[in-house]
Amino acid sequence: MAILTEQEYYKWRNILKEWLDKIQNATSLEVLENLRVETLGKKGILTLEFAKLKDIPNEQKKEFAQNLNEQKTAITSAIDAQKEQLEKVALNSQLQADKIDVTMFNNESSIGAVHPVMRTMDAIISYFQNLNFSIEEGPLVEDDFHNFEALNLPKYHPARDMQDTFYNKDFTLLRTHTSPVQIRTMLSTKPPIRMIAPGTVFRRDFDLTHTPMFNQIEGLVVDSADKISFANLKHVLEEFLHHTFGNVNVRFRPSFFPFTEPSAEVDISCVFCKGSGCRVCSQTGWLEVLGCGIVDENVFKAVGYENVSGYAFGLGVERFAMLIHNISDLRSLFESDLRLLGQFK
Ligand code: DAH
Repeated sequence: MAILTEQEYYKWRNILKEWLDKIQNATSLEVLENLRVETLGKKGILTLEFAKLKDIPNEQKKEFAQNLNEQKTAITSAIDAQKEQLEKVALNSQLQADKIDVTMFNNESSIGAVHPVMRTMDAIISYFQNLNFSIEEGPLVEDDFHNFEALNLPKYHPARDMQDTFYNKDFTLLRTHTSPVQIRTMLSTKPPIRMIAPGTVFRRDFDLTHTPMFNQIEGLVVDSADKISFANLKHVLEEFLHHTFGNVNVRFRPSFFPFTEPSAEVDISCVFCKGSGCRVCSQTGWLEVLGCGIVDENVFKAVGYENVSGYAFGLGVERFAMLIHNISDLRSLFESDLRLLGQFK
């Protein structure tokens, strides 16, 4: 007995043809996938036919299976062909949609902005350039002599503590301040000197108000003995702070730095509360903005200068940027948030 009567055979041929038609007319990959599931999937019509194989008498199995395999091949290749066709169409329309006309004028393009820290740096640099200060640079990887020793920071000084300094294995270090540029400049030139040294510095410090990397600007003025006094320093810095912060009060507070004597820290009246006391100035009405002083004799000795006098100062650029632009969180300077940066166009 043949497995399929002639009638059954024609019925199957028709069913198969219907499915092949449906496949060839599938208009999307999704429709095609549904058709695949309906024919070849777990409960697909062909799969169900294959399941009948086990009940077919042995001598007819071969023919039955052959017939089914032919149908499976026909359906599979029809699906593959249609899939290729639909993918081609999809790709073409995607390419069409994504087409970029590079000659098209885009008046929505946005312009970049100089970061507030660099902006502040530039403003301070050009202020001192106008006063005829030269701009000096030094290496970020320094040695003990330039970063500490020559600046009158003896071996036991707490500022050399491992806590503050990033040391390298070869006893070089990442400079902890821009003051070593004073030493390099004095060693390579003769007085008179009038310089600033802007640049990046590094400290092992990381919390709400400190980052391991930040920027400073150093200042140094050296001339013959008795020519430079604290009055000169005071005048230059007062003018600078008024130029930068407008109508603020400026006060010099006695302090200590190893490389200057006498030394002072400079405060301005709080730019946020105008001196009446707020959170930013810890209710003191004052904000510390600078360190400065008359260059210590030991520093001149270290670079072989004699019969000279001078003053020096150093400031933190991030702190200036925050006070100038009313930025309250130090971290926002490093987060590259376009909402902040967009305000500096
Ligand atoms: N080097 C100091 C620091 O990093 C800042 C400083 C203070 C520099 C006083 C100076 C100065 O030149 O005179 O904290």
